Amino acid sequence: MKVKVCVGSNCTLLGAMNMLDQIEDLKDIISEDPEDYSDEVLEVEAVKCLGYCKETTEDVAPVVVIDDESILNATSQVVMEKIMNKMRK
Ligand code: FES
Repeated sequence: MKVKVCVGSNCTLLGAMNMLDQIEDLKDIISEDPEDYSDEVLEVEAVKCLGYCKETTEDVAPVVVIDDESILNATSQVVMEKIMNKMRK
């Protein structure tokens, strides 16, 4: 599974770095519990502005993309839940 966290300035201002840290922690939790989670590799990448914040005047940051799904106004809770549900066996 590939998770991209936008670390452009708008998303960083709204907590993207914190989210990145939390996803890294989650990665450790998942790897320590191989019985419950698939052995699929969880790739986490920090990417430059994905462009969503430039397309609209509405608030979209922070943005996280999980595989092909873009999550706008992402919260740690939503992102963690999605990753865990996808990785769970
Ligand atoms: S800074 Fe994240 S979408 Fe632009």
